[in-house]
Amino acid sequence: MAAIDAGYRHFDCAYVYQNEKEVGEGIQEKIKEGVVKRSDLFIVSKLWCTFHEKPLVKGACQKTSANLKLNYLDLYLIHWPLGFKAGEELPTDDKGMSIPSNRDILHALEELVDAGLVKTERILNKPGLKHKSNVSQEELIKHCHCKGIAVRAYCPLGSPDRPSGMDYRMLLDDPKIKEIATKHNKTPAWILLHFHIQRNVIAIPKSVTPQRIVENFKVFEFELTKEEMAAILSVNRNWRVYTMSTCKTHKEYPFSAEY
Ligand SMILES: NC(=O)c1ccc[n+]([C@@H]2O[C@H](COP(=O)([O-])OP(=O)(O)OC[C@H]3O[C@@H](n4cnc5c(N)ncnc54)[C@H](OP(=O)(O)O)[C@@H]3O)[C@@H](O)[C@H]2O)c1
Repeated sequence: MAAIDAGYRHFDCAYVYQNEKEVGEGIQEKIKEGVVKRSDLFIVSKLWCTFHEKPLVKGACQKTSANLKLNYLDLYLIHWPLGFKAGEELPTDDKGMSIPSNRDILHALEELVDAGLVKTERILNKPGLKHKSNVSQEELIKHCHCKGIAVRAYCPLGSPDRPSGMDYRMLLDDPKIKEIATKHNKTPAWILLHFHIQRNVIAIPKSVTPQRIVENFKVFEFELTKEEMAAILSVNRNWRVYTMSTCKTHKEYPFSAEY
């Protein structure tokens, strides 16, 4: 509710987050209050892996819609689509669409573009991560934008509440990010969010703190220079928040590829 009041209209939900009922109640309350209409909102949710079997897909989507108290979802993602075939039992009508997330993205794109399904793809995208090959995320983003595909960045602040890996350094505490923040008299979170927006990538930060929810939305008020954008990209250390390591041996494991 605080997010809708602050101006957010795009919500990234998932069955596995176990909060769809609460999110749905908040949305309904704001619709009833007349703050927003359903059509003002872009609501995303995701099919969890335990529902990948064909007969389960539609029911899972309907359950999520019911939990969220919505007649339709704007985007339904396959949360971790290993083994999931595009086009299987996907509820695609003129209101909602369904596509994989967290995929070996270039292959997923080829598949989905061929199937005529792709409109949006999501990838983990933050300054601390760049792919190891010459197909870096910068190129990937350019490739998506060339094809008219919107890219969403999850964990845009570096997911500071996750357990850290050996190679981990808090993006919000990074000296380069802090230096740029000080120069603009902004917080590191603003710099990280603005970095995405400035390169036309949709950022979906999470916060349970109303003050931060408001702060994170006010990122449209300044410009980063070309040098600052390059400095933020240089924070890269090929580190991933999510590796889905239990699936490393799966033939479609997305992150063992060079991108
Ligand atoms: N498809 C997928 O597999 C996938 C995976 C991961 C995430 N996601 C999506 O991406 C969203 C964001 O990911 P995330 O929560 O992992 O990472 P994030 O947005 O990068 O970081 C969230 C953390 O940053 C803190 N924070 C928020 N605003 C801040 C600010 N202005 N200053 C300092 N700290 C701030 C939050 O604390 P408080 O909450 O305490 O304020 C929270 O601990 C999720 O909610 C989810 O929708 C999708």
